[in-house]
Amino acid sequence: MKHRRDSVASLLVAFALAASMAACASGGVKPAPAPAAAPAAAEHTTTGSAPVDWPVPPEEAAKANPLKPTADNVHKGGVLFNRYCTACHGTSGRGDGPMAEHWSRLPKDLTHPERQARLSDGEIFWKLSVGHRQNGEEIMPALGYKLSADERWRLVLFVRSLVATH
Ligand code: HEC
Repeated sequence: MKHRRDSVASLLVAFALAASMAACASGGVKPAPAPAAAPAAAEHTTTGSAPVDWPVPPEEAAKANPLKPTADNVHKGGVLFNRYCTACHGTSGRGDGPMAEHWSRLPKDLTHPERQARLSDGEIFWKLSVGHRQNGEEIMPALGYKLSADERWRLVLFVRSLVATH
């Protein structure tokens, strides 16, 4: 019975929310939803659809990657991905990292062929450079101030290497 499970799940979430609000008045990061809400995560991360409210300026989306996908560049991108992305996107990029459910928005499955086809290199570069905030909440961190342009383009090369081939 889906309906019944959903209401138990939202009850658990409500309890978790109330408990964490009482414990931490400063807030900021949302508490993890109760485990019973997990199936929603799977639905959310397997689609290739675009986040509607995170529009990319067309001139940014049109930028081409100046680096070539050499083994060295992809490897270096992978090291950065493990450091900056896997907490949310997971080691394989499927959106199942340990922190994935701590936010109100779920990280997207970066391996999905439809998503890979829709995203341009410039769009991936721009998104990881500027990040995404909404109503004061950090949905995805901005790395533009922390990593050089070459490092960010290497991350783009690594993200490209994650495309699911099945
Ligand atoms: C704090 C968790 C978090 C971290 C860390 C994070 N992301 Fe994300 N990412 C998200 C979320 C959540 C979304 C979905 C945003 C939305 O729905 O608006 C997302 C979306 C994206 C998208 C856009 C997908 C699309 O369809 O438009 C790309 C590309 C991406 N992330 C790449 C990365 C890369 C590369 C890194 C590491 C440099 C990274 N992310 C680090 C949470 C994270």
